[in-house]
Parts: sequence; structure tokens; C-alpha cells
Amino acid sequence: MPMKTRIEAAITQAVQAGQSHRAPLQLAQALHYATFPGGARIRPTICMSVALACGDDRPYLADAAAAALELMHCASLVHDDLPCFDDADFRRGKPSVHRAFSEPLAVLTGDSLIIMAFEQIAKAAVDDPGRGMQLLLTLSKRSGMPFGICAGQGWESEAKIDLSAYHQAKTGALFIAATQMGALAAGQEAEPWFELGARIGEAFQVADDLRDALYDEETLGKPAGQDNLHGRPNAVTQLGVQGAVSRLKDILGGAIASIPSCPGEAQLAQMVRAYAERLTPVMPARHPH
Ligand code: IPE
Ligand code: IPE
Ligand code: MG
Ligand code: MG
Repeated sequence: MPMKTRIEAAITQAVQAGQSHRAPLQLAQALHYATFPGGARIRPTICMSVALACGDDRPYLADAAAAALELMHCASLVHDDLPCFDDADFRRGKPSVHRAFSEPLAVLTGDSLIIMAFEQIAKAAVDDPGRGMQLLLTLSKRSGMPFGICAGQGWESEAKIDLSAYHQAKTGALFIAATQMGALAAGQEAEPWFELGARIGEAFQVADDLRDALYDEETLGKPAGQDNLHGRPNAVTQLGVQGAVSRLKDILGGAIASIPSCPGEAQLAQMVRAYAERLTPVMPARHPH
């Protein structure tokens, strides 16, 4: 089965499990709306690529880990778009969940997806409690306080932001979780995979800053110019467009060099190279002001 199909199947199965006929209809619909159609699915793709590179000897664990990462990511987007955070009306080219449904339903959608993420892994952990527990711990660490998405979003309420802690927690954390959970699902140690995840996450953040500054809402499928609007520190104001592009290339070069030795090392390097090309912005549609 192609990896993309495998990932979609794992997410579909998880979301469907939350939609029994006794469930409240709108919330059940909102769960589906928040997860399909997806965006780039980059976190589960990285997780599964690492699991495959490490032998993927317990595919059900890799499936659960990949789905859990994407559910957690989608939850973070639903909450991030709420009026009390970024107040964004669009996400993935359609109205954000609170616009399409309501604010209470958006809060509950995010909550449900977070719980569903842990539930997916817990279910798989029944057959391999050792690896399952490590997956749960890794996802917890990279989602909550003090290293995870919650911490990242929490920085936005501080008067002074530690930019690198902010970026690493808000965006980098789930990429670290992605490489480490892929390795753990295949029975490997997590620690050697930290650097690859951290580097891909950092590159992603720089690329996101570039896209936010250079592209328009139509191209992005979500509001543009947000960093400027919210006065957020970002790579483009710090380094300029050219500086940010060369920083991106440096980080990704280092990412390839950091891949731990494993049976699928060469294919994994190829995946990172392909991803690097996708991240590098082409033909800016709009210039930063
Ligand atoms: C967007 O993430 C949110 C950030 C962490 C900056 P993605 O760009 O991965 O979003 P989708 O899943 O592809 O829509
Ligand atoms: C959202 O970050 C990512 C989360 C971790 C919630 P941003 O607010 O910077 O990303 P976009 O622009 O809404 O996707
Ligand atoms: Mg935000
Ligand atoms: Mg946002």
C-alpha cells in the first residue's frame, strides 16, 4: 500500500471511531471537517518514513503513531484559529471550524481530537505496552508543557518572547515527535532521531515565515501577513528574504547529515531532499511590506 493511502486510512479509522450513531451529530461532523481533506500531512509522512527506514516490524504501531500526530496537529490548528488566539476565518482553503460550526464546537473538536490522538496509541499499546508507553510519553512531551505545542502557544501571552524556545515548542516539537515516534514504533531508540526532527521543524518554521511574508491568502489557503499583523518575531524580519532562504538550505543540509544509520537511510535522505525542494519558495506573489 502506498504510504499516503496508509496514512489516510489510519486517520480515517481514528476519526470514524469517534462518530458512532449515538454521537452528537454536529460535533461528529466537525471532527471530520477538521481532519479531511488534510493539508500536507507532513508529520505523519515523516513518522512513517522513519518507521519504514527502521524496518517497520510492528506496522500497527506506526499507523497509530502517524494518525495520532496528525490528529494532534489538526487539533492545534482548530484551537489556533479561534477568536481568542489568531482569530482566523480560513484554514486549508475553507472556513475555519469555529466559522463553519461554532466556537463551542471548535473548542470541543480540538479537545476531542487531542484525546483521540492518545486513544489511538493506547489502543495499539495493548499489543506492545513497552513501545506503546514510549509513544505516549513522546507525544505528551511534545504536545504539552513545558516543551510542546501548549508551551509554544503560551509564549504568545508573554511580554518578552524567547524566539527559539517559542519556535521549537510551537512548531518544532511535533516534528521531533514525528521522527522519534517513527523510530520508537519500529523498536529503535528515540534519542538519535532528535536532531533530524528538530532540523526539519526549524526549516519548516523558516519556510512558513517566508510563505507568510511572500504569499497571499489565496495561495496559502489561510490568512497571509499574520506575523506582521500580530507583530510576531520571524525569520524574514530578522534575516531578510534572501537570508531566510539560505538559512533554510543550511538547516536542511544539516538535516540530511544527521540521519542516524539505519537500513533505509538512503531513501530517507531522498525524502528529506524532496521535502527541501518543496519548502523552498518559488516566485513570490507578493512582497513583504
Ligand atoms: C501549519 O502547519 C501550522 C504551523 C505549524 C505553522 P502545516 O503547514 O503542516 O499545515 P497543513 O496540515 O499542511 O494544513
Ligand atoms: C499554528 O501556528 C501552529 C500551532 C502550533 C497551533 P501559527 O498560528 O503560526 O500558524 P498558522 O499560520 O495559523 O498556520
Ligand atoms: Mg498562532
Ligand atoms: Mg495561526
